[in-house]
Amino acid sequence: MAENIGYGKVILFGEHYVVYGLSGIAGAMEHYVKAKIEKGEGKGFTLIDNRPETPGYKEKKREEIYKAIELMIKFLNIDLEKNPIKIILDGTLVCTSGNGSSSAMSTAIARALSGYFDLGMDDDKINEVSYEGEKASAGTPSGIDNTCATFGGLLIFRKNMEGGPNFIEKITVKEPIEIVIANTGITQSTKEVVADLRKAKESEPEKYERIFREYDQVFEEGKKALGDHDLKKLGELFDKNQDLLRESTISCDEIETIVRVAKDNGALGAKLTGTGRGGNVIALTPGKDLQDKVAEAIEKEGFMTTKTRIGV
Ligand code: MEV
Repeated sequence: MAENIGYGKVILFGEHYVVYGLSGIAGAMEHYVKAKIEKGEGKGFTLIDNRPETPGYKEKKREEIYKAIELMIKFLNIDLEKNPIKIILDGTLVCTSGNGSSSAMSTAIARALSGYFDLGMDDDKINEVSYEGEKASAGTPSGIDNTCATFGGLLIFRKNMEGGPNFIEKITVKEPIEIVIANTGITQSTKEVVADLRKAKESEPEKYERIFREYDQVFEEGKKALGDHDLKKLGELFDKNQDLLRESTISCDEIETIVRVAKDNGALGAKLTGTGRGGNVIALTPGKDLQDKVAEAIEKEGFMTTKTRIGV
């Protein structure tokens, strides 16, 4: 038997734009997926998925979940005809679009496979395997989610568009910052949203060149604001990033409602995080009192929230 975990994530800046080689900032959540592997029966693998979920998530993602496991097993050349396994998933991360549930699962399984089959994989190898699994859900993933799931912490990420190692830089903040993560309740397909944006970018290249340029500025200022612990500025930049995502057609009514409620109740900034068109929103709410107030107001509108901190 072997078991291990992978972390969920929040993207502070750069979802979607990172797919095109722009820089992003993301942090691992304290919540995780746990994978346990034990001897199975017959051939191949069986899966028992006990993870908590946004209603309907596991059913909607069923094909992608199985595909991710198959891709990783193929990549590792593991022969399950002779060595059948049973994979049991659970953990504290509520499966939702936007919180890195798929890559947290892939990383947890990659680590558990390494333990069960005695593969001795280091974190770089685990990350590589998890990226293979991520292809099932994101199509052409940037790699930001599996990188957070594997390494944890807060980091700057830039995909290497030439195919070499990605740029990853761990960053620290002066002190942890309270945030509220709100769930629209909508499970979205990352693959489809990424593909839609690609089409939009191809049909309106000039518009997206401008958006990408403006985003680059947001990223640079965001990195500085985090370093300076300038939370007011950081919040403004969340809002600017959200403006660009809205213009890129990645937002939706539920996201906009949550953003408005968060801002009306004092959040310094709020934006969608991850896939968009559903999934999660992140609101910057430094201090326990503000965090409680914003979370309560969002819950009153009928959305589930998680109170957590970045830079822990
Ligand atoms: C999904 O969590 C993040 C996206 O940018 C896709 C990716 O980076 O692979 C939408």
